[in-house]
Amino acid sequence: MAASTSKSRAKKSARPGRPATSRPPGADADLDAIRISAARTDLARTDLVRTDADSDFTDAELGGEGLALSHLPVLAAEVLELLDPQPGEVFVDGTLGGAGHTRLLLKAGASVYGIDQDPYALSRLGELAGLTIVQGNYREMDRLLQGYRISAVDGVLLDIGVSSFQLDDAQRGFSYHTEAPLDMRMSQQGEGAYQVINETPVEELAAIIFEFGEERHSRRIARAIEAERERAPIATTTQLAEIIKRAYPGAHARGIHPARRTFQALRIYVNDELGALNSGLEAASRLLKPGGRIAVISFHSLEDRIVKRFFRDQPDLQALTKRPVEASENEQARNPRARSAKLRAARKSGHAQTEHDRVKDSQS
Ligand SMILES: C[S@@+](CC[C@H](N)C(=O)[O-])C[C@H]1O[C@@H](n2cnc3c(N)ncnc32)[C@H](O)[C@@H]1O
Repeated sequence: MAASTSKSRAKKSARPGRPATSRPPGADADLDAIRISAARTDLARTDLVRTDADSDFTDAELGGEGLALSHLPVLAAEVLELLDPQPGEVFVDGTLGGAGHTRLLLKAGASVYGIDQDPYALSRLGELAGLTIVQGNYREMDRLLQGYRISAVDGVLLDIGVSSFQLDDAQRGFSYHTEAPLDMRMSQQGEGAYQVINETPVEELAAIIFEFGEERHSRRIARAIEAERERAPIATTTQLAEIIKRAYPGAHARGIHPARRTFQALRIYVNDELGALNSGLEAASRLLKPGGRIAVISFHSLEDRIVKRFFRDQPDLQALTKRPVEASENEQARNPRARSAKLRAARKSGHAQTEHDRVKDSQS
């Protein structure tokens, strides 16, 4: 694909008539939406946790009373084993979400700086002893932590992508199943899916769908979108899903919904998820102390490749996982989100940091 899919392309101003997608945190409608989606997801998650035969964790440890609003942590036992949190250690959870993993780090006696770019995700969390909540993008975690006078940490966790809570909140526009304005912005800032779908040149749109969705019918889909938006802007998720479905050859013969890959591509592009991962890994490796650990859970082959290469090429990181760790069949059965999860971890070598300290000392 010749077209550039760089997120840094010139931002275009919002077109008139763009649906209003931002809602003030705490608005009644939000709370209702949260209650509804929590009620909808609670049953399934509670059942799943209770049938968790190969986990030592209780409901309380996996989310406590807040389980109704929390996200079932993926590969929890494996993350804990690799991060190995010790009492008094300091961790960064760069993707705090429902604080599922963070609760386990806190339980081990560590303190956690929990970062999330989604103001709604953070507004749902209550206070937890040992947790400092930080709103922002994990790509700049070292700068964010400077505000708390933290310049080095014992561990970093990234569990990237969207949470079940975000997927379940229809109004966010992540799902092709429910009618919602085209949005998909986790941070509620910047250009949303509406602008990408309605304003991106067709070749570039095809490249985005191909690259981030690994969708082989990307050109056909992009051309169908172009034809439709020439008549009137495409405003909602189900409208877009219907256009993709009509453009898709043999849509019903396949197991997956024809819109799935395109929606994934849009979400990754809108939130610059690969750019954030690249910068976040750099920031994390600057923050880690000698002996510090980093664990990353990814859900897409492009993401896993970035993590694998970073751990391989960073001279002061030693990979702790030769191959990515995947969820057990049991976990996959009870948590569909775990099916594509890949966990990699690395440890910062003491030697490189000691050397760094020595040079620093000699300079002072
Ligand atoms: C998969 S969920 C994390 C769930 C969490 N580990 C748990 O157990 O509850 C991902 C979360 O990371 C947030 N997120 C994704 N990309 C981010 C980024 N670049 N910076 C900060 N937060 C991000 C999302 O808003 C979402 O709440």
